[in-house]
Amino acid sequence: MRIALFDSGIGGLTVLSHARRVLPSEDFLFFADRDHVPYGTKSVPAVRGFVREAFHFLVEQQKADAVVVACNTATSVAVDEMRRLYAVPIIGMEPAVKKALARDTERRVLVTATPITVNGEKLRCLISAYDTGGCIDLLALPRLVEFAEEREFVSPRVENYLRSALAPYDLINYSAIVLGCTHFNYFKDTLRQIMPQTVGFVDGNEGTVEELARRTNLRTVPAGERKALCTFFESGRLVEGAEALARIEGYLARAERMEEIV
Ligand code: DGL
Repeated sequence: MRIALFDSGIGGLTVLSHARRVLPSEDFLFFADRDHVPYGTKSVPAVRGFVREAFHFLVEQQKADAVVVACNTATSVAVDEMRRLYAVPIIGMEPAVKKALARDTERRVLVTATPITVNGEKLRCLISAYDTGGCIDLLALPRLVEFAEEREFVSPRVENYLRSALAPYDLINYSAIVLGCTHFNYFKDTLRQIMPQTVGFVDGNEGTVEELARRTNLRTVPAGERKALCTFFESGRLVEGAEALARIEGYLARAERMEEIV
């Protein structure tokens, strides 16, 4: 099956990294909208336009059989329209609020995402459906998207940004931090160092891949050495050449390492 994963940039590679190991026989396409990243700080109509173009390319030109919107921001504002326009299975991603609340009923949960996701109607509905005890706080971390795109993962600038963004929260009272933007998974090592050990990470990557398998009637296998093949596109242009492909493999390798950090 031809499965497309789509993100504004390299965040979605953290989903692909998992998907290509548990579905090693499928044929993946990855689309990073490099010309328009970041989405999370742009206007909602602009993001809707970018998503329309990406879907046109992936479904109409590349003939994808299913599309994973490996981007919480695009899901927040554009997935409903895409589902009306296209008949292929479309799997979106939303911050894993329900999963985080299910882990602990007493302590608080910090949901991090982009400004569009944090201010969006979809997240508001999700929270009012599940956060009956008022345990959730929301925090936008837009600079992490820029750092990730620049491949600046571990640095004093990243650490200072995260320390000052997290300073208003007494993290000892929190059970989990939800990584509600796929770019944020690249920073788990720094976050692990600056947060108390009692705060766990929750993200939607595994759940999204399970949902993909369910919707497409595919059977996942335990993640192993074998990885599915993938063709990479940047805003509709094929990624070719050893250097560009090595850069992507570098992101995928880091994503795989970050998956081990809980
Ligand atoms: N990776 C995306 C997400 O999951 C969006 C990052 C951005 O472009 O702002 O929300």
